[in-house]
Amino acid sequence: MARFYVTTPIYYVNDSPHVGHAYTTITADALARWHRLLGDDVFFLTGTDEHGLKVQRAAEANGLTPQEQADQTSERYSEAWAGLDITYDDFIRTSEPRHHRATAALMQAAYDNGWIELRPYQGLYCVSCEAYYTEAELIDGTRCPIHGTPVELLSEENYFFKLSAFTDPLLVWYEQNPGAVTPESKRNEAVGLIKGGLRDISISRTSITWGVTVPWDPAHVFYVWYDALINYATAIGYGSDQERFTTWWPAVHHLIGKDILRFHCVYWPALLMAAGVEPPARIAVHGFLLVGGEKMSKSSLTGIAPADLTSTFGVDGFRYHLLRDQPFGPDGEFSFEGMVSRYNADLANNLGNLLARVSTVVERKCGGVGPAPDPSSALAVVAASAYETAAGAWARVAPSEALEATWRLVRETNSALEAAEPWKAEPGPAVDAVLGDALESLRILALLASPALSRASQEIWRRIGLPGRVEDQRLPEGAVWGGYPGGLTVERGNPLFPRITK
Ligand code: ME8
Ligand code: MG
Repeated sequence: MARFYVTTPIYYVNDSPHVGHAYTTITADALARWHRLLGDDVFFLTGTDEHGLKVQRAAEANGLTPQEQADQTSERYSEAWAGLDITYDDFIRTSEPRHHRATAALMQAAYDNGWIELRPYQGLYCVSCEAYYTEAELIDGTRCPIHGTPVELLSEENYFFKLSAFTDPLLVWYEQNPGAVTPESKRNEAVGLIKGGLRDISISRTSITWGVTVPWDPAHVFYVWYDALINYATAIGYGSDQERFTTWWPAVHHLIGKDILRFHCVYWPALLMAAGVEPPARIAVHGFLLVGGEKMSKSSLTGIAPADLTSTFGVDGFRYHLLRDQPFGPDGEFSFEGMVSRYNADLANNLGNLLARVSTVVERKCGGVGPAPDPSSALAVVAASAYETAAGAWARVAPSEALEATWRLVRETNSALEAAEPWKAEPGPAVDAVLGDALESLRILALLASPALSRASQEIWRRIGLPGRVEDQRLPEGAVWGGYPGGLTVERGNPLFPRITK
């Protein structure tokens, strides 16, 4: 059986979930749902990144212990994901004992292999990034290039990971695995970072206590990134259940934002090599959602919680917008007006209207009983091509293209209805044929749209009289034309996607 392991970044607990976090998580969820439909064995991991100076300071500012701070914010993430129908299989928290054990095991392996050593260190540190910068990387030599805030001078004796020794192995790996990092622009960026010269990196701290203790020197804790990355290995049993680990690794799909490309596409593969583990098979990097030209990050868009938008657009409307309108890879423009127009065009006017028309005419002309489709309908060809294109796009982590292809079937089905005008015709075989085809399109659409429309797809399924759950259907057979049996009671209900007028 094919296996599909998909991960999101684990999010920092000094802040609450916002639309940017939702973007990556909803994309991972849609992919997990698609692969479950394919019958794959899916493992979908998300979670929270709980260590480091940033969390320790946020806790102090809030009068909490770091663990209390982590508990409270981690909960906000799991609540946000419940509200967005996120179907993760595991939610990892880096403060969990299982993660401390796995981190210790992986780092010990790298240490035993001779890739880690103690050295004095002084550097310019951005607390928001939890990263050291060289002066040249800073704005005016003093401010963080990402946050624009002043960096701090930290000095300590640290354990160093001999990253520079991995320059050639990394380049060889990139050469041999051209599809490992996508899109290609992001792969080139990673290769550029490696060719630009890798310096050894500091991976431990003595100045803080909130972290995973270095197993061979308990005065140190690992610098937060070097425990965080290991979460992906912890959750599948690294260091505790080697058999389970090797069933899922290295065939992982990491989804990340471009802000953490260096950590995932350079440091992480090198660290795995140092520990004697294969690098991840796939790292899919997306751009940032921008609001009014401004990056939607903590400093500018912390205010937008997913719930602020689902109250207007519904869970389906919000998920659909992010998947359809924000192509995975480049930066995207995020605006309320854009959301309204996409919602009205694709959901209210197209899919919602299709369901409303079909159920109304079936009630009036077919006594509320749905007819069977015509096996040789012209729409059969459209449906087959929609499926082929969508399947290819989901496999490339291109949800916007998958949904675009799916909506071609929506539009073609509406056009077929408009051409035949069954609402004007006398009941009879001609009307039945048109409506049977439209019902079959709706069945296939419910299935193909279900990774995005977690709720409406099931409602369409139910209203056209089909039993069971959409998620229990299987592809590709479920998308083959002719599956709607006919003779089912079709229900006319409230508009699935009421138009938004503001
Ligand atoms: O970096 N547009 O956590 P984080 C799109 N803990 N996606 C965005 C976004 C935006 N404007 N803003 C944030 C960390 N994201 C580390 C990760 S992983 C081992 C450790 C998303 O809370 C995007 O996925 O800062 C980005 O990479 C992530 O949130 C950063 O989340
Ligand atoms: Mg961040």
